[in-house]
Amino acid sequence: MARSLPPVRALEYRHGTLRVLDQRALPGRVVWLRLRRLADVAQAIRTLTVRGAPAIGVAGAYGMLLAFREGCRDPQRAARTLLATRPTAVDLSVGVEAVRAAWAAGEDPEAAAEAYRHRVVEECHRIGRVGAPLFERRPRVLTHCNAGALATVEWGTALAPLRVAHQQGHRLFVWVDETRPLLQGARLTAWELGREGIAHAVITDNAAGHFMRSGEVDAVIVGADRIARNGDFANKIGTYEKAVVAHENGIPFYVAAPWSTFDAGRADGRRIPVEERDREELAGPRTRRTVPRNSPVRNPAFDVTPARYVRGFVTPDGVIPPGRLPGWLARRAAAQKSG
Ligand code: MRU
Repeated sequence: MARSLPPVRALEYRHGTLRVLDQRALPGRVVWLRLRRLADVAQAIRTLTVRGAPAIGVAGAYGMLLAFREGCRDPQRAARTLLATRPTAVDLSVGVEAVRAAWAAGEDPEAAAEAYRHRVVEECHRIGRVGAPLFERRPRVLTHCNAGALATVEWGTALAPLRVAHQQGHRLFVWVDETRPLLQGARLTAWELGREGIAHAVITDNAAGHFMRSGEVDAVIVGADRIARNGDFANKIGTYEKAVVAHENGIPFYVAAPWSTFDAGRADGRRIPVEERDREELAGPRTRRTVPRNSPVRNPAFDVTPARYVRGFVTPDGVIPPGRLPGWLARRAAAQKSG
Protein backbone atom coordinates (compact mmCIF):
# COMPACT_ATOMS: atom_id res chain seq x y z
CA MET A 1 0.00 0.00 0.00
CA ALA A 2 1.52 3.35 -1.04
CA ARG A 3 2.32 5.82 1.73
CA SER A 4 -0.10 8.74 1.65
CA LEU A 5 0.33 12.01 3.55
CA PRO A 6 -2.15 14.89 3.60
CA PRO A 7 -1.84 17.34 0.69
CA VAL A 8 0.40 20.33 1.27
CA ARG A 9 -0.61 23.94 1.64
CA ALA A 10 1.77 26.61 0.30
CA LEU A 11 0.91 29.39 2.75
CA GLU A 12 -1.43 30.43 5.53
CA TYR A 13 -2.28 33.72 7.24
CA ARG A 14 -2.98 34.17 10.94
CA HIS A 15 -3.01 37.19 13.23
CA GLY A 16 -0.79 39.48 11.19
CA THR A 17 1.67 36.81 10.02
CA LEU A 18 1.86 35.16 6.61
CA ARG A 19 3.52 31.74 6.96
CA VAL A 20 4.96 30.46 3.68
CA LEU A 21 6.49 27.10 2.93
CA ASP A 22 9.97 27.93 1.59
CA GLN A 23 9.93 26.26 -1.83
CA ARG A 24 13.67 26.83 -2.30
CA ALA A 25 14.42 24.34 0.48
CA LEU A 26 12.25 21.50 -0.87
CA PRO A 27 12.45 18.57 -1.14
CA GLY A 28 15.36 18.35 1.29
CA ARG A 29 13.91 20.41 4.13
CA VAL A 30 10.45 21.59 5.12
CA VAL A 31 10.97 25.18 6.29
CA TRP A 32 8.16 27.60 7.16
CA LEU A 33 9.00 31.31 7.05
CA ARG A 34 7.05 34.00 8.91
CA LEU A 35 6.44 37.19 6.92
CA ARG A 36 5.11 40.29 8.69
CA ARG A 37 5.93 43.14 6.31
CA LEU A 38 5.17 44.10 2.72
CA ALA A 39 8.91 44.04 1.92
CA ASP A 40 9.18 40.43 3.19
CA VAL A 41 6.38 39.32 0.88
CA ALA A 42 7.88 41.14 -2.12
CA GLN A 43 11.21 39.47 -1.42
CA ALA A 44 9.58 36.03 -1.05
CA ILE A 45 7.88 36.39 -4.44
CA ARG A 46 11.02 37.71 -6.16
CA THR A 47 13.18 34.85 -4.88
CA LEU A 48 10.61 32.10 -5.65
CA THR A 49 10.27 31.28 -1.96
CA VAL A 50 6.61 31.35 -2.89
CA ARG A 51 5.96 30.74 -6.57
CA GLY A 52 3.40 29.58 -9.14
CA ALA A 53 0.92 32.04 -10.64
CA PRO A 54 -2.15 31.56 -8.38
CA ALA A 55 0.01 31.29 -5.23
CA ILE A 56 1.83 34.55 -5.93
CA GLY A 57 -1.57 36.16 -6.52
CA VAL A 58 -2.65 35.08 -3.05
CA ALA A 59 0.70 36.10 -1.54
CA GLY A 60 0.29 39.50 -3.23
CA ALA A 61 -3.16 39.89 -1.68
CA TYR A 62 -1.73 39.20 1.79
CA GLY A 63 1.24 41.48 1.02
CA MET A 64 -1.25 44.33 0.57
CA LEU A 65 -2.89 43.41 3.87
CA LEU A 66 0.49 43.47 5.67
CA ALA A 67 1.22 46.90 4.14
CA PHE A 68 -2.09 48.17 5.55
CA ARG A 69 -1.27 46.72 8.98
CA GLU A 70 2.17 48.36 8.91
CA GLY A 71 0.44 51.70 8.67
CA CYS A 72 1.09 52.37 4.98
CA ARG A 73 -1.35 55.04 3.77
CA ASP A 74 -0.73 54.63 0.06
CA PRO A 75 -2.28 51.43 -1.37
CA GLN A 76 -1.08 52.38 -4.84
CA ARG A 77 2.55 52.45 -3.73
CA ALA A 78 2.23 49.12 -1.90
CA ALA A 79 0.71 47.62 -5.05
CA ARG A 80 3.59 48.92 -7.19
CA THR A 81 6.14 47.31 -4.86
CA LEU A 82 4.49 43.91 -5.23
CA LEU A 83 3.86 44.18 -8.97
CA ALA A 84 7.54 44.97 -9.60
CA THR A 85 8.58 41.51 -8.33
CA ARG A 86 7.53 39.28 -11.25
CA PRO A 87 6.02 40.39 -14.58
CA THR A 88 4.57 37.31 -16.30
CA ALA A 89 1.84 35.89 -14.04
CA VAL A 90 -1.28 38.03 -14.38
CA ASP A 91 -2.65 36.46 -11.17
CA LEU A 92 -0.29 38.66 -9.14
CA SER A 93 -2.03 41.80 -10.33
CA VAL A 94 -5.48 40.25 -9.81
CA GLY A 95 -4.68 39.32 -6.18
CA VAL A 96 -3.06 42.69 -5.42
CA GLU A 97 -5.94 44.60 -7.03
CA ALA A 98 -8.58 42.66 -5.07
CA VAL A 99 -7.15 44.03 -1.80
CA ARG A 100 -6.09 47.45 -3.14
CA ALA A 101 -9.66 48.17 -4.29
CA ALA A 102 -11.18 47.10 -0.95
CA TRP A 103 -8.60 49.15 0.99
CA ALA A 104 -9.12 52.25 -1.20
CA ALA A 105 -12.90 51.92 -0.74
CA GLY A 106 -12.56 51.84 3.06
CA GLU A 107 -13.49 48.16 3.27
CA ASP A 108 -11.70 45.54 5.39
CA PRO A 109 -8.47 44.49 3.59
CA GLU A 110 -8.23 41.32 5.67
CA ALA A 111 -11.67 40.16 4.55
CA ALA A 112 -10.67 40.94 0.93
CA ALA A 113 -7.42 38.93 1.16
CA GLU A 114 -9.17 35.98 2.81
CA ALA A 115 -11.93 36.07 0.20
CA TYR A 116 -9.34 36.08 -2.59
CA ARG A 117 -7.50 33.06 -1.14
CA HIS A 118 -10.79 31.25 -0.68
CA ARG A 119 -11.78 31.96 -4.30
CA VAL A 120 -8.50 30.62 -5.70
CA VAL A 121 -8.61 27.43 -3.61
CA GLU A 122 -12.26 26.80 -4.45
CA GLU A 123 -11.65 27.32 -8.19
CA CYS A 124 -8.69 24.94 -8.14
CA HIS A 125 -10.80 22.27 -6.44
CA ARG A 126 -13.41 22.69 -9.18
CA ILE A 127 -10.67 22.41 -11.84
CA GLY A 128 -9.86 19.05 -10.26
CA ARG A 129 -13.43 17.81 -10.51
CA VAL A 130 -13.90 19.14 -14.06
CA GLY A 131 -10.61 17.72 -15.32
CA ALA A 132 -10.44 14.32 -13.62
CA PRO A 133 -12.59 12.48 -16.22
CA LEU A 134 -10.13 13.49 -18.97
CA PHE A 135 -7.58 11.07 -17.53
CA GLU A 136 -9.73 8.03 -16.75
CA ARG A 137 -8.92 6.59 -20.16
CA ARG A 138 -5.61 8.43 -20.57
CA PRO A 139 -3.76 7.46 -17.39
CA ARG A 140 -0.16 8.17 -18.44
CA VAL A 141 0.13 11.93 -18.14
CA LEU A 142 3.08 14.26 -18.64
CA THR A 143 3.41 17.58 -16.81
CA HIS A 144 5.96 20.38 -16.85
CA CYS A 145 7.10 22.59 -13.94
CA ASN A 146 5.03 22.54 -10.74
CA ALA A 147 1.36 23.38 -11.05
CA GLY A 148 0.37 21.67 -7.82
CA ALA A 149 -0.74 22.82 -4.37
CA LEU A 150 2.58 24.58 -3.89
CA ALA A 151 1.82 26.77 -6.90
CA THR A 152 -1.79 27.54 -5.98
CA VAL A 153 -2.08 27.28 -2.15
CA GLU A 154 -4.12 24.04 -2.33
CA TRP A 155 -5.08 21.44 -4.98
CA GLY A 156 -3.09 22.85 -7.90
CA THR A 157 -4.16 23.49 -11.46
CA ALA A 158 -2.54 20.82 -13.65
CA LEU A 159 -2.20 18.49 -10.66
CA ALA A 160 -5.75 19.02 -9.35
CA PRO A 161 -7.45 16.71 -11.89
CA LEU A 162 -4.75 14.10 -11.31
CA ARG A 163 -5.26 14.33 -7.51
CA VAL A 164 -9.03 13.98 -7.88
CA ALA A 165 -8.74 11.06 -10.33
CA HIS A 166 -6.30 9.35 -7.93
CA GLN A 167 -8.67 9.92 -4.98
CA GLN A 168 -11.48 8.40 -7.07
CA GLY A 169 -9.41 5.23 -7.40
CA HIS A 170 -8.07 5.65 -10.95
CA ARG A 171 -4.54 4.40 -11.45
CA LEU A 172 -2.40 7.11 -13.00
CA PHE A 173 1.23 7.44 -13.91
CA VAL A 174 2.74 10.92 -14.13
CA TRP A 175 5.81 11.80 -16.20
CA VAL A 176 7.45 14.73 -14.41
CA ASP A 177 9.74 16.98 -16.47
CA GLU A 178 12.63 18.06 -14.24
CA THR A 179 12.16 21.72 -15.44
CA ARG A 180 15.55 23.36 -15.81
CA PRO A 181 17.09 25.45 -14.40
CA LEU A 182 15.30 25.58 -11.02
CA LEU A 183 13.91 22.04 -11.13
CA GLN A 184 10.35 22.82 -10.05
CA GLY A 185 9.25 19.48 -11.54
CA ALA A 186 11.95 17.30 -10.00
CA ARG A 187 11.96 19.04 -6.61
CA LEU A 188 8.34 20.09 -6.11
CA THR A 189 5.96 18.12 -8.35
CA ALA A 190 7.67 14.82 -7.52
CA TRP A 191 7.54 15.73 -3.81
CA GLU A 192 3.79 16.46 -3.97
CA LEU A 193 2.99 13.31 -5.93
CA GLY A 194 5.17 11.15 -3.70
CA ARG A 195 3.43 12.36 -0.53
CA GLU A 196 0.10 11.24 -1.92
CA GLY A 197 1.25 7.95 -3.36
CA ILE A 198 0.68 8.91 -7.02
CA ALA A 199 2.96 6.86 -9.27
CA HIS A 200 5.42 8.98 -11.21
CA ALA A 201 8.90 9.21 -12.71
CA VAL A 202 11.08 12.28 -13.11
CA ILE A 203 12.64 12.70 -16.55
CA THR A 204 15.07 15.21 -18.00
CA ASP A 205 13.38 17.97 -19.94
CA ASN A 206 14.87 16.71 -23.18
CA ALA A 207 13.50 13.17 -22.66
CA ALA A 208 9.84 14.20 -22.96
CA GLY A 209 9.81 13.90 -26.77
CA HIS A 210 11.31 10.43 -26.57
CA PHE A 211 8.55 9.15 -24.28
CA MET A 212 5.83 10.83 -26.33
CA ARG A 213 7.10 9.28 -29.53
CA SER A 214 7.46 5.83 -27.99
CA GLY A 215 3.74 5.81 -27.12
CA GLU A 216 4.17 6.04 -23.35
CA VAL A 217 2.33 9.35 -22.86
CA ASP A 218 -1.48 9.53 -23.23
CA ALA A 219 -1.96 13.22 -22.43
CA VAL A 220 -0.11 16.36 -21.34
CA ILE A 221 -1.41 18.87 -18.79
CA VAL A 222 0.30 22.06 -17.63
CA GLY A 223 -0.61 25.22 -15.76
CA ALA A 224 -0.27 28.77 -17.08
CA ASP A 225 0.92 32.19 -15.96
CA ARG A 226 -1.16 34.24 -18.38
CA ILE A 227 -3.71 33.22 -21.01
CA ALA A 228 -4.62 35.71 -23.74
CA ARG A 229 -8.16 36.02 -25.15
CA ASN A 230 -7.33 33.89 -28.19
CA GLY A 231 -5.82 31.10 -26.05
CA ASP A 232 -2.10 31.82 -26.55
CA PHE A 233 -0.57 31.33 -23.12
CA ALA A 234 2.64 31.83 -21.16
CA ASN A 235 3.98 29.09 -18.93
CA LYS A 236 7.32 27.83 -17.67
CA ILE A 237 10.12 27.84 -20.24
CA GLY A 238 9.99 24.58 -22.19
CA THR A 239 6.20 24.37 -22.34
CA TYR A 240 6.10 25.44 -25.98
CA GLU A 241 8.29 22.62 -27.20
CA LYS A 242 6.26 20.07 -25.17
CA ALA A 243 3.10 21.35 -26.89
CA VAL A 244 4.65 21.08 -30.34
CA VAL A 245 5.91 17.54 -29.74
CA ALA A 246 2.54 16.50 -28.27
CA HIS A 247 0.84 17.87 -31.39
CA GLU A 248 3.32 16.04 -33.65
CA ASN A 249 2.45 12.78 -31.87
CA GLY A 250 -1.34 13.28 -31.71
CA ILE A 251 -1.32 13.57 -27.89
CA PRO A 252 -3.97 15.87 -26.36
CA PHE A 253 -2.46 18.89 -24.59
CA TYR A 254 -4.47 20.57 -21.81
CA VAL A 255 -3.91 23.81 -19.90
CA ALA A 256 -5.51 24.10 -16.45
CA ALA A 257 -6.08 27.49 -14.83
CA PRO A 258 -8.39 29.44 -12.52
CA TRP A 259 -10.12 32.51 -13.94
CA SER A 260 -7.47 34.80 -12.41
CA THR A 261 -4.97 33.52 -15.02
CA PHE A 262 -7.10 34.59 -18.01
CA ASP A 263 -6.08 38.05 -19.23
CA ALA A 264 -9.20 39.02 -21.18
CA GLY A 265 -7.73 42.42 -22.03
CA ARG A 266 -4.91 40.89 -24.06
CA ALA A 267 -5.86 39.81 -27.57
CA ASP A 268 -3.03 37.30 -28.11
CA GLY A 269 0.32 36.14 -26.78
CA ARG A 270 2.56 38.46 -28.80
CA ARG A 271 3.41 40.97 -26.10
CA ILE A 272 3.08 38.89 -22.95
CA PRO A 273 5.99 40.05 -20.76
CA VAL A 274 8.49 37.22 -20.36
CA GLU A 275 10.62 37.45 -17.24
CA GLU A 276 14.38 37.07 -17.68
CA ARG A 277 16.03 35.83 -14.50
CA ASP A 278 19.55 35.91 -13.11
CA ARG A 279 22.53 34.32 -14.78
CA GLU A 280 23.42 32.55 -11.54
CA GLU A 281 20.27 30.40 -11.62
CA LEU A 282 21.65 28.74 -14.72
CA ALA A 283 25.40 29.06 -14.44
CA GLY A 284 26.05 28.47 -10.71
CA PRO A 285 27.70 28.83 -8.30
CA ARG A 286 24.98 27.82 -5.83
CA THR A 287 25.67 24.16 -6.47
CA ARG A 288 28.55 23.75 -8.87
CA ARG A 289 29.56 25.92 -11.78
CA THR A 290 27.97 24.57 -14.97
CA VAL A 291 28.88 27.33 -17.45
CA PRO A 292 32.31 28.85 -18.07
CA ARG A 293 32.69 32.24 -16.37
CA ASN A 294 32.99 34.14 -19.65
CA SER A 295 30.10 32.52 -21.53
CA PRO A 296 27.02 34.72 -21.67
CA VAL A 297 23.70 33.08 -20.80
CA ARG A 298 20.03 33.84 -21.46
CA ASN A 299 17.57 32.72 -18.82
CA PRO A 300 13.93 33.39 -19.83
CA ALA A 301 11.66 31.96 -17.15
CA PHE A 302 8.66 31.50 -19.45
CA ASP A 303 7.69 30.95 -23.07
CA VAL A 304 4.50 31.57 -25.02
CA THR A 305 2.62 28.70 -26.67
CA PRO A 306 0.19 29.39 -29.53
CA ALA A 307 -3.42 28.41 -28.87
CA ARG A 308 -3.47 26.01 -31.84
CA TYR A 309 -1.58 23.41 -29.80
CA VAL A 310 -4.15 23.36 -26.97
CA ARG A 311 -6.94 20.73 -26.96
CA GLY A 312 -8.75 22.44 -24.09
CA PHE A 313 -8.47 24.86 -21.18
CA VAL A 314 -9.50 23.09 -17.99
CA THR A 315 -11.29 25.85 -16.04
CA PRO A 316 -13.42 25.77 -12.89
CA ASP A 317 -16.50 25.81 -15.12
CA GLY A 318 -15.67 23.34 -17.87
CA VAL A 319 -13.14 22.28 -20.49
CA ILE A 320 -13.06 25.04 -23.11
CA PRO A 321 -11.53 24.57 -26.57
CA PRO A 322 -9.43 27.61 -27.61
CA GLY A 323 -11.92 28.63 -30.32
CA ARG A 324 -14.67 29.07 -27.70
CA LEU A 325 -12.49 31.02 -25.23
CA PRO A 326 -13.27 34.58 -26.47
CA GLY A 327 -17.02 33.90 -26.14
CA TRP A 328 -16.62 32.52 -22.61
CA LEU A 329 -14.53 35.50 -21.52
CA ALA A 330 -17.00 37.98 -23.03
CA ARG A 331 -19.94 36.30 -21.25
CA ARG A 332 -18.05 36.28 -17.93
CA ALA A 333 -17.21 39.99 -18.29
CA ALA A 334 -20.86 40.82 -19.08
CA ALA A 335 -22.10 38.77 -16.11
CA GLN A 336 -19.62 40.50 -13.77
CA LYS A 337 -20.71 43.93 -15.04
CA SER A 338 -24.38 43.21 -14.45
CA GLY A 339 -23.62 42.31 -10.87
O1 MRU B 1 8.75 30.48 -12.10
P1 MRU B 1 7.62 29.74 -11.46
O2 MRU B 1 8.06 28.52 -10.72
O3 MRU B 1 6.73 30.62 -10.62
O4 MRU B 1 6.74 29.25 -12.69
C1 MRU B 1 5.55 28.56 -12.44
C2 MRU B 1 4.90 28.05 -13.66
O5 MRU B 1 5.31 28.28 -14.77
C3 MRU B 1 3.63 27.28 -13.45
O6 MRU B 1 3.48 26.30 -14.42
C4 MRU B 1 2.46 28.27 -13.56
O7 MRU B 1 2.65 29.34 -12.66
C5 MRU B 1 1.17 27.63 -13.29
S1 MRU B 1 1.00 27.28 -11.59
C6 MRU B 1 -0.45 26.63 -11.25
